[in-house]
Amino acid sequence: MLMMLDRGSVRSMSARRRRWGMMVAWPRSSGSLIHRKHIDEHLGAPVEITVTVNGTPHTHDVEPRTLLVQYIREHVGLTGTNIGCDTSSCGACSLHLNGEAVKSCTVLAVQADGTDIRTIEGMADADGTLHPMQQAFMENHGLQCGYCTPGMVMAATSLLDENPHPTEEEVRIGLEGNLCRCTGYHNIVKSVLAAASANA
Ligand code: FES
Ligand code: FES
Repeated sequence: MLMMLDRGSVRSMSARRRRWGMMVAWPRSSGSLIHRKHIDEHLGAPVEITVTVNGTPHTHDVEPRTLLVQYIREHVGLTGTNIGCDTSSCGACSLHLNGEAVKSCTVLAVQADGTDIRTIEGMADADGTLHPMQQAFMENHGLQCGYCTPGMVMAATSLLDENPHPTEEEVRIGLEGNLCRCTGYHNIVKSVLAAASANA
């Protein structure tokens, strides 16, 4: 299995890692992310949801079974968020939901009703200036085929939001939920550390 985590790091599981694991299983048991009533009340009937994606509100009718990643790609039309596994393993579908990185194949679109979402398309400035994390990936060759890159950038940005100056080990632990099938981990970690240095 392709992992970013050194074996010796397993015991030093961080709070971020534990939270990431919880988000993979189910975003939250209470609060704005969960709208179980939509599922229970409507069963198979389409449900109207409204989300803000990269600053723009979107309202659509979706089937309760629709995954957030499907919604973003097929209803909103933003295909930068990739689907790699559909089983919460690879992190290719990572985006920011209310400011936190989540794997959007683990969230139903109806659960995201009322939330604020940021995708890779919303990272650069309107004039095309790349987000510092995107710039760091470009300058440090943090991508090969690029398929994992949007998810990596979203997860790495969230990581630095929580820990602006991580160690290499903390980067590896923080990104262990994101897999790179090209195995380009060295330069991915280098990119994140460079982005952290640029924050100094
Ligand atoms: S597509 Fe969501 S984790 Fe792989
Ligand atoms: S660069 Fe190819 S999957 Fe990561």
